[in-house]
Amino acid sequence: MPYRLTVIGTGYLGITHAACMADLGFEVLGLDIDADKVLRLNSGELPIHEPGLEPVLRRGLESGRLRFTTSYEDIAAFGDVHFICVGTPQKRGEYAADVSYMDAAVESLAPLLDRECLVVGKSTVPVGTAERLADKLARLAPAGVLTELAWNPEFLREGHAVQDTMRPDRLVFGVRSERAEKVLREVYEPLGDVPIVVSDFATAELVKTAANAFLATKISFINAMAEVCEAAHADVQKLSEALSYDDRIGGRYLNAGLGFGGGCLPKDIRAFMARAGELGADQALTFLREVDAINMRRRARMVDLARELAGGSFHGCVVGVLGAAFKPDSDDIRDSPALDVAVTIGHQGGRVTMYDPIALDNARKAHPELSYGESVVEAVRGAHVVLLLTEWQEFVDLDPEQLGGVVAARRIVDGRNALDAETWRSAGWHYRALGRP
Ligand code: UGA
Repeated sequence: MPYRLTVIGTGYLGITHAACMADLGFEVLGLDIDADKVLRLNSGELPIHEPGLEPVLRRGLESGRLRFTTSYEDIAAFGDVHFICVGTPQKRGEYAADVSYMDAAVESLAPLLDRECLVVGKSTVPVGTAERLADKLARLAPAGVLTELAWNPEFLREGHAVQDTMRPDRLVFGVRSERAEKVLREVYEPLGDVPIVVSDFATAELVKTAANAFLATKISFINAMAEVCEAAHADVQKLSEALSYDDRIGGRYLNAGLGFGGGCLPKDIRAFMARAGELGADQALTFLREVDAINMRRRARMVDLARELAGGSFHGCVVGVLGAAFKPDSDDIRDSPALDVAVTIGHQGGRVTMYDPIALDNARKAHPELSYGESVVEAVRGAHVVLLLTEWQEFVDLDPEQLGGVVAARRIVDGRNALDAETWRSAGWHYRALGRP
């Protein structure tokens, strides 16, 4: 009999994991404490935007292998393997991560576990959390030693969640027993030949934080080069291209621009610094403070460039903003650089109208004080400056001639180095970009 799986928490990670595991042939029961979300999921409706996920969800529901519930009793009775996929956001006013949802999940599930099962943490947590939760599980679960914890960090990217889950680069199993390792190997066997690293809890937790810290550092490295390029009148795009041909460096995560945002990279590097401080290893990560600072400076630089193009002040200036999501193919606006820039310009007196293909509703809810357009044309009509802040394909494909007929002045700042400067300049646009002359 294949294992029956449960997935606790239905965010980007939980929904994707549940739906993909059902697609691989497992029976899966997902849980969320939000009854409305559970209702929507059970009727095949995705509460998030994630390309390619809805058909997988629907297939799972139609096959009868996938269901969602709000009941911990149901999942405790159902599951042989319980995956915890709840959020671990940044604490208010602090760098540290808030792991209270993680604790709450274990506290709700553990007292109901009266038979053999494996509880698997997938969320990104401060190192040491797994050990603490394992103790808690041992204390609370009636099944005693028949229940066990494992740590299996997740590396999926929003916008590529299905592909990253079905074809992961690697799997990491933080385990304390051969039994736990065996269960995880069997669960992931249908994925085929994927490199597996087996480690202790602490290493497994750290792999995830280290991976995100490395990616953030790579992005901030190229953005630091962009700052130098701006000072030296050099072109960071050319620089980045030239670096990318060296496969020791590689070209991925080397796009200079407005920098990183989202629910992961920014909060993960901060939580990593906070945790290192608690462990007495803060010196090892002081460079991440710089990574964070470089990243935030890009947003300020973007505002400065826009103001420069607006003639030194935003007062009386209509600013058309393209993009609200923290990156293309996502409706996620958590710590979105685009939204941050738009809000700042609004505070400085600019009349901002924003458009995003998918994230508009989320942006509107979070920032009702801004104006929104239902299309590119609506957002840029009468604009004195246009800002491209998220590189949706729709924006990359824009025709500068057509757009030029709608704006008040042909001025654009390309915050993602996504447009062809020559094409826009030859259509009469004053084109500026971060890190380029
Ligand atoms: C990130 C990691 O890439 C995943 O491996 C990880 O699983 C996930 O966090 C997580 O911890 O859950 P994600 O937040 O979906 O995934 O976003 P990315 O695609 O990594 O992009 C992050 C940010 O960096 C975006 O704002 C993007 O615009 C920016 N970025 C990316 C750049 O500014 N330049 C680049 O070259 C690449």
